Amino acid sequence: MSLKIPDPVIILDFGSQLTQNIARRVRELEIYSEVHPPFESADQIRNRKPRAIILSGGPASVFDPGAPTVDSGIFSLGVPVLGICYGMQLMAHLLGGKVEPAEVREYGVTPFLIQKGAGVPWTTLGDRSPVLMSHGDAILALPAGFQITGKTQSTAIAGMENRALNLYGVQFHPEVTQSLKGIPFLHSFLTDVAGIRPNWTLSGYIEREIDHIRETVGKDSLICALSGGIDSTVTALLCHKALGSRFQAFYVDNGLMRMGESEQIVRDLKELSLPLKSVDAGKIFLDRLKGVKNPERKRKIIGKTFIDVFWSEAMTLPVRPRFLAQGTLYPDVIESISHKGPSSMIKSHHNVGGLPKKNPFRLVEPLRDLFKDEVRRMGLKLGLPESFIRKQPFPGPGLAIRIIGSITPERLRVVREADRIVRETLSGHEISSTLWQYFAVLLPVQSVGVMGDQRTYENVIAIRAVSSQDGMTADVADLPHSLLGQLSHRIIAEVRGVNRVVYDISPKPPSTIEWE
Ligand code: XMP
Repeated sequence: MSLKIPDPVIILDFGSQLTQNIARRVRELEIYSEVHPPFESADQIRNRKPRAIILSGGPASVFDPGAPTVDSGIFSLGVPVLGICYGMQLMAHLLGGKVEPAEVREYGVTPFLIQKGAGVPWTTLGDRSPVLMSHGDAILALPAGFQITGKTQSTAIAGMENRALNLYGVQFHPEVTQSLKGIPFLHSFLTDVAGIRPNWTLSGYIEREIDHIRETVGKDSLICALSGGIDSTVTALLCHKALGSRFQAFYVDNGLMRMGESEQIVRDLKELSLPLKSVDAGKIFLDRLKGVKNPERKRKIIGKTFIDVFWSEAMTLPVRPRFLAQGTLYPDVIESISHKGPSSMIKSHHNVGGLPKKNPFRLVEPLRDLFKDEVRRMGLKLGLPESFIRKQPFPGPGLAIRIIGSITPERLRVVREADRIVRETLSGHEISSTLWQYFAVLLPVQSVGVMGDQRTYENVIAIRAVSSQDGMTADVADLPHSLLGQLSHRIIAEVRGVNRVVYDISPKPPSTIEWE
């Protein structure tokens, strides 16, 4: 159930990796944007009352069989349209221009040479401003009524417009930082051309969402499961603000958390005055995970057990709740509606989103229109401390996927103690502020060592430390040797049962951040 925000900028997604960037850049300009699949009819799009339409880039060629296209009625809705890369080529193709494979494919940053006399939004680029080009096809002939507004060294038509119809196209990507004046260009298109007055603020969103939750839940009550992470916490804060005592939050301790973490989460959440019931379910989880080695089976068991415990607790409330709040974010929504369907699965990600088909609750998803950075800012507005916002991501299945092989209380102790040392040592070092995640992994091998005069045959701990923007790709952290030495020394000396420490030097891709 989602709030309808009026007068959006609509971005039609042709499958570019950068579509979400366009939406985020537009929102950073305080203009509300939504991403939609391109197969909606012009009427459906008109009914959304867009203030402007942006056609994203995409990997296809307009002449590929089955290439994504759009109802060409959108070009005569009277709404300004900006086509970016594939979006520009598609606009030219549908309106009678000529698109062909380029003689010289252009990938990289190059100066945009503006056509003399071009007006706004082109003037914001200035002359010879660097722009990022990434295309194999090119427009060879403009559709009738269009003008060239700029070129690059290899592309004769790098910008085009039809001012009478309010249609604009750029072959470059204004949504990336490599296009130096890309953001002023987008701003000018949206404000000067489309006449939009920026008014998208999180404070306004919070107020509207609180009203929306009240309206949806009516006189019923709402529950939510908290993981200690930012998304579920911000969801709970909003729901609590909206419903007061008709809201109840639960924390299910699965026994797979890091050292002292569950206690800390419960303390933090109580400090936020959230009505919280904490359920100690570690034994149930460990029993069900006994002897399970396969990572996907672990995830499935943990997901199912979580739902079993949470729902049976919810049923003990004096009044049976009818609504369940979830911290679904906008990228998950975009992914689920994209024209290409959810991207191929590498690991099934367990969160509360993995609800069984037979769900007795109606869902409330107050963050489903927001990007992660907006949720972080909203958290600050709702009173979360900076330290909470900056927490490292921690996977739903917890340490279960950092113990390679089967999970036993003893193996949990080993990885927990090693992980505490990794976190303690790195968090005190300046490099930690540049890292996305750092943790310990317990490997399923024993190795020979010598401690004192004794031969040992004990566990191996791998240290993983990576930098990343969003977890989709990751680089290995360049930890100084002295720091690695310190980590190895402490782990072997302090964690009973470990005689060897290795450092994981694999980037993502080809590896993943977690080992399972
Ligand atoms: P991978 O290992 O896929 O991780 O490179 C990317 C990011 O996702 C986190 N991750 C998970 N989060 N449930 C979660 O909630 C999971 O099953 C899961 N697996 C990986 C991982 O910690 C990293 O931040």
